[in-house]
Amino acid sequence: MDHHEAHFPAVRLRRLRRTAALRDAFAETRLHPSDLVLPVFVKEGLEGNHPVESLPGVSQHGVDSAVDLVKRAASVGVRSFLLFGIPERKDADGSSGWDPSGPVPTATRAIREAMGDDVVLWADVCSCEYTDHGHCGPLGDDGQVLNDEAVVGYLRESIAYAEAGINIVAPSGMMDGQVAVIRNGLDDAGFGEVAIVAYAAKYASAFYGPFRDVAESGMTSGDRRSHQMAASNRREAIREIDLDVLEGADVIMVKPALPCLDIIADAARDHPLPVAAYHVSGEHAMLAAAADRGMLDLDAATLEAHVSIKRAGADLVITYAAEHVAGLLDRP
Ligand code: PBG
Repeated sequence: MDHHEAHFPAVRLRRLRRTAALRDAFAETRLHPSDLVLPVFVKEGLEGNHPVESLPGVSQHGVDSAVDLVKRAASVGVRSFLLFGIPERKDADGSSGWDPSGPVPTATRAIREAMGDDVVLWADVCSCEYTDHGHCGPLGDDGQVLNDEAVVGYLRESIAYAEAGINIVAPSGMMDGQVAVIRNGLDDAGFGEVAIVAYAAKYASAFYGPFRDVAESGMTSGDRRSHQMAASNRREAIREIDLDVLEGADVIMVKPALPCLDIIADAARDHPLPVAAYHVSGEHAMLAAAADRGMLDLDAATLEAHVSIKRAGADLVITYAAEHVAGLLDRP
């Protein structure tokens, strides 16, 4: 308390909260549409779009529909888009992930053609959408993902996305060494300008459920606990983040967001790198379902969630509500 010069009644914190103008003038955290990153799900062979029941407001998109979505979101100020691909063909290695005519490279080229450099295009890099068993890479005899083999696949995906014009690759598989291998491989292939957002502290979270419906990346058996982090661990997240920084990450990401505000704060405190947080599918669905039943005011709860994630230390929020939030912000 020694930083307080005085006490009540001289000090009255309510003075600066009396009007909306005062509250706005003294806001410590401000959201801007350019803080938001909208996930875009591109399904190979789809015409138009296909809404997904478990993730309200979110659809799978054909390439033209993905371009339309990006244009619409850009018109309310959203600049960044995280692409996910849903392929027609899956195999044990996830090889359609690095097909240059796969959904992510195709959509990248189409969006770039329509929007030029006005948008920032990110691609999630993982194999779970491309393997027939739904795991994040090829499996060993013990049924666990083979770390070093999976990472080779991530590099091949990254190069295919870089060739198509992606700005940022975001490896999400939580394999050891993935950032180093991708950084070196991109540099060797002449893509030194492509940035890496490292899903550095990604927890094995129950909140990813709806995503697996929209990305069609559910597992036929098993789970992701041999590579994603346990919710119990905070110091381990610091090690994950430190390693990704040393391996050459440009941005560090924490995921999920609301259950991990402490981890976001650690990341922002420990490193000068930009921090991104992923407000994941289950967090989004939870708010939407409660609002649907009249239990929450969706606009207010959504804004509060996003401001709180930013207040914890995130510079960027990846969110299915990007268009909604951008529309709620009053901008001069
Ligand atoms: C993996 C990936 C997942 C999410 C983003 N990238 C799923 C997983 O790890 O199982 C989850 C995102 C969300 O729930 O919104 N490609």
